[in-house]
Parts: sequence; C-alpha cells; structure tokens
Amino acid sequence: MQHTDFNQLFQRRKTNSLKWDDLEKRFGSDDILPLWVADMDFAAPLEVQSAIQERAAHGIFGYTIRGDSYTEAIVQWLQKRHGWQVHPEQLIHCPGVVPSLAIAIQECTQPKDSILIQSPVYHPFFDVVKQNGRVLIDSPLVFDGSKYRMDFADLERQFASGVALMILCSPHNPVGRVWTRPELEELAALCLAYDVTIVADEIWSDIVLDGHQHIPLATVIDNPALKVITCMAPSKTFNLAGLNTSFSVIAQRQLRNAFAKGLHKLEMHLGNVFGIVGTQAAYEHGHAWLNQAIAYIQDNLVFLNDYLMKRIPVVKIVQPEGTYLVWLDCRELPLAFKDQTSFFAEQAMVGLNDGQFFGPSGAGFQRINIACPQQILAEGLARIDKAVKSL
Ligand SMILES: Cc1ncc(COP(=O)(O)O)c(C=O)c1O
Repeated sequence: MQHTDFNQLFQRRKTNSLKWDDLEKRFGSDDILPLWVADMDFAAPLEVQSAIQERAAHGIFGYTIRGDSYTEAIVQWLQKRHGWQVHPEQLIHCPGVVPSLAIAIQECTQPKDSILIQSPVYHPFFDVVKQNGRVLIDSPLVFDGSKYRMDFADLERQFASGVALMILCSPHNPVGRVWTRPELEELAALCLAYDVTIVADEIWSDIVLDGHQHIPLATVIDNPALKVITCMAPSKTFNLAGLNTSFSVIAQRQLRNAFAKGLHKLEMHLGNVFGIVGTQAAYEHGHAWLNQAIAYIQDNLVFLNDYLMKRIPVVKIVQPEGTYLVWLDCRELPLAFKDQTSFFAEQAMVGLNDGQFFGPSGAGFQRINIACPQQILAEGLARIDKAVKSL
C-alpha cells in the first residue's frame, strides 16, 4: 500500500489557489495563514496525479465523453463506501454541486415557491435560493451547547405552510453533524407526508470520523414516492475541487428527466477531460489514500482539542462527526461578535470563515479548516493564542 506523507508542506502561493492567492482581497493582507475555504493542503492520490499526467501528455483536449468505466467507478465507490447500490442510469453528471442545486431549484420548483434550509449552513445555499427568485425559509438547527439537532416540530410547521423543496446538508457543513438513521428517517417521513422534494447535498459523505457512518438519505425509506436528488462529488474527498466534476443520483425517473433537461438547457452536460480521468482514478484507487487522510485529520482534531483546552480554553470546539471543518464557539471571547473577523484577520493573522456567513445563528462562531499539515495548524493556533492573550 502506498503511504502518503500528509506532513509534506507544499508551496501553494502563485498557483491561482483561491485559498492561498486571494488573501489580500479577502482578509486585507497576503501574510494571513489561510485556514478557511474547504480545500485541503494535501496532494491528491498519486494514482490521480499519474492518470492526469498521462492524459495531459496526449496533448489533445477536445470534447470529452464519459465512458462506461467512468460510471462503473462511481457505482463501485458508492457500493463499497456507503453500501449503496445505484443503477448507472440513475447518475447525472454536472460540473459542480452548487450548480446542481441551482438546476434542481429551477426545474423542480416555480418562481416564488418556498425553499427550506437549516442554518447555520454552507452560505451558497442562501444565494442559490435567492438568486433563482425563490423564497428562502430557514429552519435553524438547535444547539444544546454541545451538539446541533434538527428542529422537527419547526420543520413540520414550515412544511405544513407550504415548502416545495428543502436543501439538506449531510454531513453538515459547518457544524460537522453526520445525521443518524433515525434523524434521516424522521426527515424523510416528513418530506413524504408533505410532498417536499429533497436535494441532499452529500458532498461530504466520504469524510466521516470514527464512530459515525454516513447514510445516504435516499436509502432510508423504501418508498418510490420520496423525491430525492443526491448531489455528490470527489472534490472534498480527494481535494479535486479545481477539476469541477460532480454527479447526482436520482432514482425517480420524472425527477431525473427534469434535472437532465435543466442541465441540457445550460449546455453543461459535457465533461472536463481532466475531471473525468481524475475522478475515475480516485474512485478506483483512492480507498487507502482516503483512509489515511481521514486518520490524519483525526490526529489534527486531537491536536486542536488539546491545544485549545490547554492554551485557549475560552474558545470551545463543537466536536465534528464528519468533514474536516471545525466549528469553534468563540462567544466567550471578550469581543463583539461583529469584531471577530477583524480580530482573527488583523490581530491573529489567520484566515477563518466567520460564522455569520452561515446565517445569523452563526454569530460568535468561526469555522476552521484542519485538512493541512499539522505544522500549519500549529502555526495558526500559536497566532490565535498570542492574539487572544493580548486582548
Ligand atoms: C456543503 C457543500 N456543498 C457544495 C460545496 C461545493 O461544491 P462544488 O464546488 O461542487 O460546487 C461545498 C464546498 O465546500 C460544500 O461544503
């Protein structure tokens, strides 16, 4: 088995990296240490690199189709990692998960329909609803001081007053929940009862920490009337976001046809040559790499817990069950919530995601990305420690 050195430091500046080359614009200085956008500072599996290099060496990059072996690699991955038997014809390919959310909204709802999200949540969920002229309904998750839960009573109230579609984040960015089977069953039953279509954004499904298991929402209730569009991608799993490659699984034929029509209307159905090659290699050969990456992320989480407990106890961790993003409860810092962004960027010189981006209930929280060599994480925490001590 190939062993990857996740401690290896890479120079990512001057590679057109959103995470490393956009700091001046986003945080006001290039000297910021970036621990923000969901992109890992790890190289993709060697098999992915080789497959892309080999294809690049061919030199011709014309319009590219997806062969049966591509689809088969996805089907096998879903079977092996999630015990989910998907038929190849249920797969629809798209450059990204966020574009897929937009297509689902355009094709499965009408202007002015209500679309529900559960904040604090990945901020493009807000934008994609509003930019497509739909009404945004928020059913905030409930935080009991250690864990976030869905508010089923509120969900039912909202569904009863007319919700056409909900966007589920599973596992959840930023709060790190990996929803349990009973939670998903309850949600699916409510969606069935009120005829709500669910777009399940399961882009984080492969990054689940020990003791937890991702369950695809589409598998929890065996009822063909349940309308689910499951959006997935290799981008978080293998750090391939720049390849712009994703897919959706849609069992219901009518829903699938509507989604496919939307994709064709935008002429977005053709694939990216490197995305196709890289994704296939990742799903065929990436199991061991992913297991090692998750183990490394778990070590970083232990490191983060230890560091905060010993040196910065005023900042508390909401323990993640999945993803490599950690939701930090900073409400006890002696600062107004609105001043946290400038504190972390200007005093600590670290780039985090301010909680308010994820909705009003995120105020007082910060999201930190721990998918980086531990040396980078340690440097970021030392900067935060120093800045907090100076408050
Ligand atoms: C929940 C969620 N959905 C979608 C995306 C991005 O998907 P894509 O780059 O395929 O549009 C992210 C990226 O962080 C995410 O966290």
